[in-house]
Amino acid sequence: MPRYILGIESSCDDTAAAVLCDGKVLSNVIANQAIHEAYGGVVPELASRAHQQNIVPVVQQAIAKANIDKNQLKAVAFTQGPGLMGSLLVGASFAKSLALSLNIPLIGVNHMQAHLLAHFINDPKQNVPSFPFIGVTISGGHTQIVKVSDYFKMEIIGETLDDAIGEAFDKSGKMLGLPYPAGPIIDKKAQSGDGSAFSFSKPKVANLDFSFSGLKTGILYFLQKQIKKNPEFVSQNINNLCASIQQTIVEILMDKIHLAVKQTGINEIAIGGGVSANSGIRKALLQAKDQYGWKVHLPKFEYTTDNAAMIAIVGDLLYQQQKFSSLDASVLARTSFF
Ligand code: KG4
Ligand code: ZN
Repeated sequence: MPRYILGIESSCDDTAAAVLCDGKVLSNVIANQAIHEAYGGVVPELASRAHQQNIVPVVQQAIAKANIDKNQLKAVAFTQGPGLMGSLLVGASFAKSLALSLNIPLIGVNHMQAHLLAHFINDPKQNVPSFPFIGVTISGGHTQIVKVSDYFKMEIIGETLDDAIGEAFDKSGKMLGLPYPAGPIIDKKAQSGDGSAFSFSKPKVANLDFSFSGLKTGILYFLQKQIKKNPEFVSQNINNLCASIQQTIVEILMDKIHLAVKQTGINEIAIGGGVSANSGIRKALLQAKDQYGWKVHLPKFEYTTDNAAMIAIVGDLLYQQQKFSSLDASVLARTSFF
Protein backbone atom coordinates (compact mmCIF):
# COMPACT_ATOMS: atom_id res chain seq x y z
CA MET A 1 0.00 0.00 0.00
CA PRO A 2 1.58 3.33 -1.03
CA ARG A 3 2.10 5.85 1.76
CA TYR A 4 0.50 9.10 0.57
CA ILE A 5 1.21 11.91 3.04
CA LEU A 6 -0.10 15.46 2.76
CA GLY A 7 2.10 18.21 4.23
CA ILE A 8 0.86 21.71 5.06
CA GLU A 9 3.19 24.63 5.83
CA SER A 10 1.96 28.04 7.01
CA SER A 11 4.49 29.22 9.60
CA CYS A 12 5.35 32.57 8.06
CA ASP A 13 4.34 34.18 4.77
CA ASP A 14 4.15 31.22 2.39
CA THR A 15 1.11 28.98 2.18
CA ALA A 16 2.31 25.60 0.97
CA ALA A 17 1.01 22.06 0.50
CA ALA A 18 2.72 18.94 -0.84
CA VAL A 19 1.89 15.28 -1.37
CA LEU A 20 4.57 12.61 -0.98
CA CYS A 21 4.29 8.95 -1.88
CA ASP A 22 6.74 6.73 0.02
CA GLY A 23 8.96 9.78 0.53
CA LYS A 24 8.88 10.88 -3.14
CA VAL A 25 7.44 14.29 -3.98
CA LEU A 26 4.34 14.07 -6.18
CA SER A 27 3.41 17.75 -5.77
CA ASN A 28 4.90 20.76 -3.99
CA VAL A 29 2.72 23.88 -4.25
CA ILE A 30 3.61 27.28 -2.77
CA ALA A 31 1.61 30.51 -2.76
CA ASN A 32 3.88 33.44 -1.90
CA GLN A 33 2.44 36.53 -0.28
CA ALA A 34 3.68 39.53 -2.29
CA ILE A 35 1.72 41.91 -0.03
CA HIS A 36 4.57 42.14 2.53
CA GLU A 37 7.03 43.69 0.07
CA ALA A 38 5.30 47.05 0.42
CA TYR A 39 5.93 46.98 4.18
CA GLY A 40 9.59 45.90 4.06
CA GLY A 41 8.89 42.80 6.14
CA VAL A 42 6.23 40.27 7.07
CA VAL A 43 3.10 41.81 8.68
CA PRO A 44 1.66 39.00 10.86
CA GLU A 45 -2.00 40.06 10.58
CA LEU A 46 -1.81 40.28 6.78
CA ALA A 47 0.01 36.94 6.61
CA SER A 48 -2.72 35.22 8.59
CA ARG A 49 -5.43 36.67 6.37
CA ALA A 50 -3.60 35.67 3.19
CA HIS A 51 -3.18 32.10 4.53
CA GLN A 52 -6.95 31.93 5.05
CA GLN A 53 -7.49 32.88 1.41
CA ASN A 54 -4.80 30.55 0.04
CA ILE A 55 -5.08 27.39 2.11
CA VAL A 56 -8.04 25.73 0.36
CA PRO A 57 -6.86 26.29 -3.26
CA VAL A 58 -3.25 25.41 -2.38
CA VAL A 59 -4.21 22.08 -0.76
CA GLN A 60 -6.64 21.31 -3.59
CA GLN A 61 -3.91 21.99 -6.13
CA ALA A 62 -1.39 19.80 -4.30
CA ILE A 63 -3.83 16.86 -4.28
CA ALA A 64 -4.83 17.42 -7.93
CA LYS A 65 -1.20 17.69 -9.09
CA ALA A 66 -0.36 14.49 -7.22
CA ASN A 67 -3.12 12.89 -9.26
CA ILE A 68 -4.68 11.13 -6.28
CA ASP A 69 -8.00 11.25 -4.50
CA LYS A 70 -7.96 12.77 -1.00
CA ASN A 71 -9.33 9.49 0.34
CA GLN A 72 -6.02 7.82 -0.54
CA LEU A 73 -4.13 10.02 1.94
CA LYS A 74 -2.70 8.14 4.92
CA ALA A 75 -1.98 11.17 7.16
CA VAL A 76 -1.98 14.96 7.29
CA ALA A 77 1.22 16.61 8.54
CA PHE A 78 1.27 20.31 9.45
CA THR A 79 3.75 22.82 10.85
CA GLN A 80 3.13 23.05 14.58
CA GLY A 81 5.89 25.62 15.20
CA PRO A 82 7.95 27.69 15.45
CA GLY A 83 6.40 30.56 13.52
CA LEU A 84 3.84 33.34 13.62
CA MET A 85 0.88 32.38 15.80
CA GLY A 86 -1.83 33.67 13.45
CA SER A 87 -0.19 31.96 10.48
CA LEU A 88 0.38 28.63 12.22
CA LEU A 89 -3.24 28.55 13.42
CA VAL A 90 -4.61 28.65 9.86
CA GLY A 91 -2.58 25.62 8.73
CA ALA A 92 -3.21 23.73 11.97
CA SER A 93 -6.98 24.27 11.94
CA PHE A 94 -7.21 23.22 8.33
CA ALA A 95 -5.04 20.12 8.88
CA LYS A 96 -7.13 19.09 11.89
CA SER A 97 -10.44 19.44 10.04
CA LEU A 98 -9.12 17.45 7.08
CA ALA A 99 -7.66 14.68 9.25
CA LEU A 100 -10.92 14.50 11.19
CA SER A 101 -13.11 14.37 8.09
CA LEU A 102 -10.94 11.74 6.38
CA ASN A 103 -10.48 9.84 9.66
CA ILE A 104 -6.69 9.65 9.25
CA PRO A 105 -3.86 10.56 11.67
CA LEU A 106 -2.74 14.13 12.24
CA ILE A 107 1.01 14.75 12.59
CA GLY A 108 2.49 17.96 14.06
CA VAL A 109 5.90 18.87 12.64
CA ASN A 110 8.71 21.10 13.90
CA HIS A 111 9.55 23.54 11.10
CA MET A 112 13.26 23.72 11.94
CA GLN A 113 13.63 19.94 12.05
CA ALA A 114 11.88 19.85 8.69
CA HIS A 115 14.46 22.20 7.13
CA LEU A 116 17.12 19.57 7.97
CA LEU A 117 15.08 16.45 7.33
CA ALA A 118 14.29 17.77 3.82
CA HIS A 119 17.54 16.00 2.91
CA PHE A 120 15.70 12.69 3.37
CA ILE A 121 13.18 13.40 0.62
CA ASN A 122 13.43 10.50 -1.79
CA ASP A 123 15.02 12.25 -4.77
CA PRO A 124 17.79 10.95 -7.05
CA LYS A 125 19.28 14.47 -7.22
CA GLN A 126 19.81 14.64 -3.45
CA ASN A 127 22.27 12.52 -1.50
CA VAL A 128 21.10 11.48 1.93
CA PRO A 129 23.24 12.34 4.99
CA SER A 130 24.30 9.59 7.35
CA PHE A 131 24.12 9.92 11.14
CA PRO A 132 25.65 11.63 12.98
CA PHE A 133 25.93 14.83 10.94
CA ILE A 134 26.07 18.54 11.65
CA GLY A 135 22.88 20.31 10.59
CA VAL A 136 23.04 24.04 9.93
CA THR A 137 19.65 25.76 9.85
CA ILE A 138 19.93 29.20 8.37
CA SER A 139 16.77 31.19 7.68
CA GLY A 140 15.01 34.48 8.24
CA GLY A 141 14.15 33.43 11.79
CA HIS A 142 16.91 31.04 12.84
CA THR A 143 20.63 30.40 12.82
CA GLN A 144 21.44 27.10 14.49
CA ILE A 145 24.15 24.49 14.50
CA VAL A 146 22.60 21.15 15.37
CA LYS A 147 24.18 17.81 16.12
CA VAL A 148 21.88 15.31 14.43
CA SER A 149 22.36 11.80 15.84
CA ASP A 150 19.13 10.38 14.40
CA TYR A 151 16.00 11.69 12.62
CA PHE A 152 14.53 13.01 15.85
CA LYS A 153 17.61 13.11 18.02
CA MET A 154 18.81 16.64 17.50
CA GLU A 155 20.85 18.78 19.87
CA ILE A 156 21.31 22.51 19.27
CA ILE A 157 25.01 23.17 19.90
CA GLY A 158 25.10 26.77 18.73
CA GLU A 159 22.63 29.51 17.83
CA THR A 160 22.27 33.22 17.33
CA LEU A 161 22.13 35.48 20.36
CA ASP A 162 20.30 38.22 18.43
CA ASP A 163 19.44 38.53 14.71
CA ALA A 164 19.14 35.51 12.44
CA ILE A 165 21.46 35.22 9.44
CA GLY A 166 18.55 35.91 7.04
CA GLU A 167 17.78 39.10 8.96
CA ALA A 168 21.43 40.12 8.55
CA PHE A 169 20.93 39.86 4.78
CA ASP A 170 17.48 41.47 4.77
CA LYS A 171 18.33 44.37 7.11
CA SER A 172 21.61 45.12 5.31
CA GLY A 173 19.66 45.12 2.06
CA LYS A 174 17.12 47.53 3.50
CA MET A 175 19.95 49.95 4.32
CA LEU A 176 21.06 49.67 0.70
CA GLY A 177 17.51 50.49 -0.43
CA LEU A 178 16.78 46.96 -1.65
CA PRO A 179 13.25 45.51 -1.35
CA TYR A 180 12.29 42.75 1.12
CA PRO A 181 13.46 40.02 1.21
CA ALA A 182 16.87 41.33 0.19
CA GLY A 183 18.82 38.06 0.69
CA PRO A 184 18.38 36.72 -2.86
CA ILE A 185 19.03 40.19 -4.38
CA ILE A 186 22.26 40.65 -2.41
CA ASP A 187 23.32 37.19 -3.57
CA LYS A 188 22.66 38.07 -7.23
CA LYS A 189 24.42 41.45 -7.10
CA ALA A 190 27.32 39.96 -5.13
CA GLN A 191 28.15 37.78 -8.10
CA SER A 192 29.13 40.88 -10.11
CA GLY A 193 31.01 42.51 -7.23
CA ASP A 194 34.30 42.28 -5.36
CA GLY A 195 33.89 40.76 -1.90
CA SER A 196 37.08 42.34 -0.61
CA ALA A 197 36.17 45.87 -1.71
CA PHE A 198 34.98 46.85 1.78
CA SER A 199 35.64 45.19 5.10
CA PHE A 200 33.27 44.96 8.04
CA SER A 201 34.34 43.78 11.45
CA LYS A 202 33.18 40.34 12.52
CA PRO A 203 31.63 39.68 15.93
CA LYS A 204 33.62 37.96 18.63
CA VAL A 205 31.22 35.45 20.12
CA ALA A 206 32.36 32.47 22.16
CA ASN A 207 31.85 28.83 21.18
CA LEU A 208 29.35 27.99 18.48
CA ASP A 209 26.98 30.91 19.04
CA PHE A 210 26.42 33.74 16.56
CA SER A 211 25.67 37.44 16.70
CA PHE A 212 24.67 39.54 13.70
CA SER A 213 23.40 42.75 15.29
CA GLY A 214 26.89 44.30 15.51
CA LEU A 215 27.46 43.72 11.80
CA LYS A 216 24.21 45.54 11.05
CA THR A 217 25.31 48.56 13.13
CA GLY A 218 28.78 48.47 11.56
CA ILE A 219 27.28 48.58 8.07
CA LEU A 220 24.93 51.41 9.07
CA TYR A 221 27.76 53.62 10.41
CA PHE A 222 29.96 52.82 7.42
CA LEU A 223 27.20 53.80 4.97
CA GLN A 224 26.33 56.99 6.88
CA LYS A 225 29.98 58.07 6.75
CA GLN A 226 30.39 57.31 3.06
CA ILE A 227 27.08 58.91 2.04
CA LYS A 228 28.12 62.15 3.81
CA LYS A 229 31.17 62.30 1.53
CA ASN A 230 29.36 61.09 -1.59
CA PRO A 231 25.54 60.96 -1.71
CA GLU A 232 25.74 58.54 -4.66
CA PHE A 233 27.99 56.10 -2.77
CA VAL A 234 25.47 53.26 -2.51
CA SER A 235 24.28 53.30 -6.12
CA GLN A 236 27.85 53.63 -7.42
CA ASN A 237 29.10 50.70 -5.33
CA ILE A 238 26.06 48.48 -4.99
CA ASN A 239 27.62 45.29 -6.38
CA ASN A 240 30.79 45.63 -4.30
CA LEU A 241 28.74 46.45 -1.20
CA CYS A 242 26.57 43.35 -1.69
CA ALA A 243 29.64 41.17 -2.34
CA SER A 244 31.46 42.50 0.74
CA ILE A 245 28.44 42.07 3.03
CA GLN A 246 27.87 38.55 1.70
CA GLN A 247 31.54 37.64 2.09
CA THR A 248 31.53 38.82 5.72
CA ILE A 249 28.38 36.81 6.53
CA VAL A 250 29.78 33.71 4.78
CA GLU A 251 33.02 33.99 6.77
CA ILE A 252 31.14 34.35 10.09
CA LEU A 253 29.15 31.19 9.29
CA MET A 254 32.08 29.17 7.97
CA ASP A 255 34.25 30.02 11.03
CA LYS A 256 31.56 28.47 13.26
CA ILE A 257 31.08 25.41 11.05
CA HIS A 258 34.86 24.81 11.18
CA LEU A 259 34.72 25.07 14.96
CA ALA A 260 31.76 22.67 15.10
CA VAL A 261 33.67 20.11 13.02
CA LYS A 262 36.66 20.49 15.33
CA GLN A 263 34.61 20.22 18.54
CA THR A 264 32.42 17.28 17.50
CA GLY A 265 34.81 15.38 15.24
CA ILE A 266 31.94 15.11 12.73
CA ASN A 267 32.76 16.30 9.22
CA GLU A 268 29.46 15.61 7.49
CA ILE A 269 27.46 18.85 7.05
CA ALA A 270 23.89 19.39 5.84
CA ILE A 271 22.44 22.88 5.49
CA GLY A 272 18.81 23.93 5.35
CA GLY A 273 16.54 26.99 5.46
CA GLY A 274 16.03 29.92 3.11
CA VAL A 275 19.61 31.18 3.39
CA SER A 276 20.96 27.77 2.31
CA ALA A 277 20.14 28.94 -1.24
CA ASN A 278 22.98 31.46 -0.96
CA SER A 279 25.64 30.92 -3.62
CA GLY A 280 28.49 32.21 -1.42
CA ILE A 281 27.67 29.73 1.35
CA ARG A 282 27.31 26.86 -1.13
CA LYS A 283 30.64 27.72 -2.75
CA ALA A 284 32.44 27.96 0.60
CA LEU A 285 31.08 24.57 1.69
CA LEU A 286 32.06 22.91 -1.59
CA GLN A 287 35.53 24.39 -1.22
CA ALA A 288 35.78 22.93 2.30
CA LYS A 289 34.62 19.59 0.87
CA ASP A 290 37.52 19.60 -1.62
CA GLN A 291 40.05 21.04 0.81
CA TYR A 292 39.26 19.11 3.99
CA GLY A 293 37.38 16.07 2.71
CA TRP A 294 34.10 17.07 4.42
CA LYS A 295 30.89 15.44 3.24
CA VAL A 296 28.58 18.29 2.27
CA HIS A 297 24.81 18.17 1.62
CA LEU A 298 23.23 21.12 -0.16
CA PRO A 299 19.44 20.96 -0.56
CA LYS A 300 17.79 21.38 -3.95
CA PHE A 301 16.66 24.99 -4.35
CA GLU A 302 12.95 24.17 -4.07
CA TYR A 303 13.59 22.70 -0.59
CA THR A 304 15.55 25.70 0.73
CA THR A 305 12.87 28.33 1.35
CA ASP A 306 9.73 27.40 3.23
CA ASN A 307 7.91 24.55 1.50
CA ALA A 308 5.53 21.76 2.41
CA ALA A 309 7.54 18.86 0.93
CA MET A 310 9.85 19.14 3.95
CA ILE A 311 6.84 19.04 6.30
CA ALA A 312 5.46 16.00 4.49
CA ILE A 313 8.78 14.09 4.69
CA VAL A 314 8.86 14.58 8.47
CA GLY A 315 5.21 13.48 8.50
CA ASP A 316 6.24 10.38 6.54
CA LEU A 317 9.05 9.54 8.98
CA LEU A 318 6.77 10.05 12.01
CA TYR A 319 3.99 8.06 10.31
CA GLN A 320 6.34 5.09 9.99
CA GLN A 321 7.08 5.39 13.71
CA GLN A 322 3.30 5.73 14.38
CA LYS A 323 3.91 9.02 16.19
CA PHE A 324 0.72 10.99 15.82
CA SER A 325 -0.66 14.21 17.32
CA SER A 326 -4.00 14.60 19.02
CA LEU A 327 -6.68 16.80 17.51
CA ASP A 328 -6.25 19.30 20.35
CA ALA A 329 -2.51 19.76 19.67
CA SER A 330 -1.71 23.46 20.05
CA VAL A 331 0.59 25.48 17.83
CA LEU A 332 3.78 26.87 19.34
CA ALA A 333 5.20 30.23 18.26
CA ARG A 334 8.58 29.54 19.85
CA THR A 335 9.68 26.04 20.26
CA SER A 336 12.80 24.00 20.21
CA PHE A 337 11.17 20.61 20.67
CA PHE A 338 14.22 19.00 19.14
O1 KG4 B 1 13.42 29.56 5.53
P1 KG4 B 1 12.83 30.82 4.98
O2 KG4 B 1 12.10 30.73 3.68
O3 KG4 B 1 11.82 31.44 5.99
C1 KG4 B 1 12.05 31.44 7.35
O4 KG4 B 1 11.67 30.44 8.00
O5 KG4 B 1 12.64 32.44 7.81
O6 KG4 B 1 14.01 31.90 4.87
C2 KG4 B 1 13.81 33.19 4.37
C3 KG4 B 1 15.12 33.93 4.42
C4 KG4 B 1 15.02 35.43 4.12
O7 KG4 B 1 15.73 36.14 5.10
C5 KG4 B 1 15.70 35.57 2.74
O8 KG4 B 1 16.30 36.82 2.53
C6 KG4 B 1 16.72 34.48 2.83
O9 KG4 B 1 16.04 33.40 3.45
N1 KG4 B 1 17.26 34.05 1.52
C7 KG4 B 1 18.54 34.27 1.12
C8 KG4 B 1 18.67 33.73 -0.18
N2 KG4 B 1 17.45 33.20 -0.53
C9 KG4 B 1 16.61 33.40 0.52
N3 KG4 B 1 19.56 34.86 1.77
C10 KG4 B 1 20.74 34.93 1.12
N4 KG4 B 1 20.94 34.45 -0.13
C11 KG4 B 1 19.94 33.85 -0.82
N5 KG4 B 1 20.15 33.37 -2.05
ZN1 ZN C 1 11.87 28.27 7.30
